[in-house]
Amino acid sequence: MIGERFRRYFGVWPLAIASAPGRVNLIGEHTDYNDGFVLPMAIDRRVTVAAAPRVDDQIVAFSEEFNEQKKLPVRGATSAPSRAWDAYVTGLCRTLEASGIRVPGMSLLISGQGVPTGAGLSSSAALLMALARALSSAMRIGWEPLKMARLAQRAENDFVGVHSGIMDPVASAAGRSGNAMLLDCRSLEVTYVSVPSDVTIVVMDTGMRRALSETEYNDRRATCDAAIRQIRLIAPDVRALRDVSPSLLESAVPLLPATMYLRAKHVVEENARPKALALALAAGDFDAAGRLMNASHASLRERYEVSSIHLDIICDVARDHFACHGARMTGAGFGGCAIALVRTKDVDQFIRQVQPQYEARTYQRATFFAVKGDDGARLEAS
Ligand code: GLA
Repeated sequence: MIGERFRRYFGVWPLAIASAPGRVNLIGEHTDYNDGFVLPMAIDRRVTVAAAPRVDDQIVAFSEEFNEQKKLPVRGATSAPSRAWDAYVTGLCRTLEASGIRVPGMSLLISGQGVPTGAGLSSSAALLMALARALSSAMRIGWEPLKMARLAQRAENDFVGVHSGIMDPVASAAGRSGNAMLLDCRSLEVTYVSVPSDVTIVVMDTGMRRALSETEYNDRRATCDAAIRQIRLIAPDVRALRDVSPSLLESAVPLLPATMYLRAKHVVEENARPKALALALAAGDFDAAGRLMNASHASLRERYEVSSIHLDIICDVARDHFACHGARMTGAGFGGCAIALVRTKDVDQFIRQVQPQYEARTYQRATFFAVKGDDGARLEAS
């Protein structure tokens, strides 16, 4: 147990232990930073953090996954953004301090084995939210999941240098067992969407880790912002691509360079899919749900250009299986994971047959596993 490992490492028992889930996004990709809708599901793969205050003023963190201890520079001059695991911890502590929450000296043990890193399952949001939950408890401050999700987003933006949206921290903060969540990224209103037991989400990890993803991701965001500036020339009231209807987008064609138009078209159409998928799942219309997932993937591949050969192949072989209703990449793209909507009674067979087909076509090892909707950040017993 993590409490025992903490005691062996730091010589005291932890005061708080918390865990938070990774996530898959069922649909609504690259819409969150356009103020739009998303349909993520917190998954039963979690990061756990144990914490105890220290007598000195230092933040000392040990990552089991990286087998590495760091004394974190939480006070004083800031350093350049970094993608290393400790940048997330430093970033969250600094962001808490900037928001007026003083972080005392703390020993932290981080156990991330459940969520693979760099796979697009949001191990970073899981780490940030598990840490936020553990610190809130150890520091005896009330737990406000959405407020902490916003602070976690700021920490990643400012200290890791990825301009990620609000979807992942909210999914990790506020998930609910057995459910996906329809999230309005402007108001942060959440509507839970029960995933019927007849279907299961299967994660298909291509084995390829994302390359150049930060640069490409930040570039897509900048293109969306530029598109909005252009569209405002004819529709001054729109604030984000979420406010742009398909017909308004068509009227703006003369103002938009070809690539910018394609990016915007993806966002405008994708923004309608989370509600449509929620309805299809509620109605038990899994073929319609699958078609929405396939359409989302095609748009991400052709218009938003964030898929990859491996993601395309893994979705193709999945779709060819009789038990699969639909498949798409999930998360930012450029490698990492895809998901398939699979008939629950045939999940084992699906995995047994599709995984080797992908591996035979790509000479790349894959990992397939079924996931269930899980609860957001929570305290754990020691
Ligand atoms: C990453 C980001 C999210 C979101 C997705 C794309 O996961 O962290 O905020 O933008 O990409 O939908």
